[in-house]
Amino acid sequence: MTFSTTDMINNITGSRRLRRNRMTPWARAMVRENTVTPDDLILPLFIIDGKSEEEAIEAMPGVSRRSVDKAVELTRHAASLGIPAVAPFPNVDLAKRDQAGSAILDPDNLICRYVKAVKDAGIDIGIITDSALDPFTDHGHDGVLRDGVIVNDESVEQIVKASILQAQAGADIIAPSDMMDGRIGAIRQALDAEGFSDTAIMSYTAKYASGFYGPYREAIGTDQTLKGDKATYYIDPANSEDAMREAEMDIAEGADSLMVKPGMPYLDIIWRMKSTFGMPVFAYQVSGEYSMIEAAAANGWLDGERAMMESIVAFKRAGADGILSYFAIRVAEKLHSS
Ligand code: PBG
Repeated sequence: MTFSTTDMINNITGSRRLRRNRMTPWARAMVRENTVTPDDLILPLFIIDGKSEEEAIEAMPGVSRRSVDKAVELTRHAASLGIPAVAPFPNVDLAKRDQAGSAILDPDNLICRYVKAVKDAGIDIGIITDSALDPFTDHGHDGVLRDGVIVNDESVEQIVKASILQAQAGADIIAPSDMMDGRIGAIRQALDAEGFSDTAIMSYTAKYASGFYGPYREAIGTDQTLKGDKATYYIDPANSEDAMREAEMDIAEGADSLMVKPGMPYLDIIWRMKSTFGMPVFAYQVSGEYSMIEAAAANGWLDGERAMMESIVAFKRAGADGILSYFAIRVAEKLHSS
């Protein structure tokens, strides 16, 4: 008797053939579990002083710093593509930076001016502002530096004031990226006390002490200012339990949504946070992740567009409700063209 390979394989698989569902584009579309739409995307953008200015960021090909008027134009474009929210980050004049980040409390600073300009222009898009101090401190840290220590409580005091100011300017969501203990609860109480009970908080819950932030620091000029590293307040990349404790506390303190940052190296944290708490979870695909893909693509080492789309759907598969990404405009444009 002859025993065919087909008989053998059917014995092995029990006649199950998984490739049937992959045979054609329509079959793949029919069984696809995750899709990306423009409303999964949040656009981070960089703001500078001036008018009609657009300046390239060397370490982030394709991303620019823009003066408020230009940033408003880009914001209008993002809204027209269906991107639901933007996250502005300022590159502040070095002369305006000090030890306590005082300029974050100037109602005329770049963040406030941008927020007001977008609202005045009547653009229907959410604005997520960061109330961490690093763009405004002369040492590049997210909090107040005293005797070589980032002091927690004094930093929270400053971050709370900045959050109120940003809410007053019109920010819809306050997203403190500083990792100080107790800041979510303190911001929530202050917002409520000041009449901003509808202003939401997106917590940078699991922000890791990562090597992937380099290009961003060039973009906002903290590459020139940062002294030492942020390991005393960001999470150690080797840990996941610490991220879960942060999430538990942020939820108890009143966070409306959680964030994991960086993104691609921390998909396990996104998955675990989403499945444990069921809260809205956002991923930040940070500057280094963007620049890695761009650099490899520029060298012809990988297909940049394909890697971009794959990286974004991977966040959805991991359970993210949305992704902050420097690719947001390109992804949304591609989704509209296909
Ligand atoms: C700091 C902050 C960082 C980023 C945004 N806000 C990290 C840092 O500079 O330490 C990184 C974003 C990116 O890399 O895209 N509050």
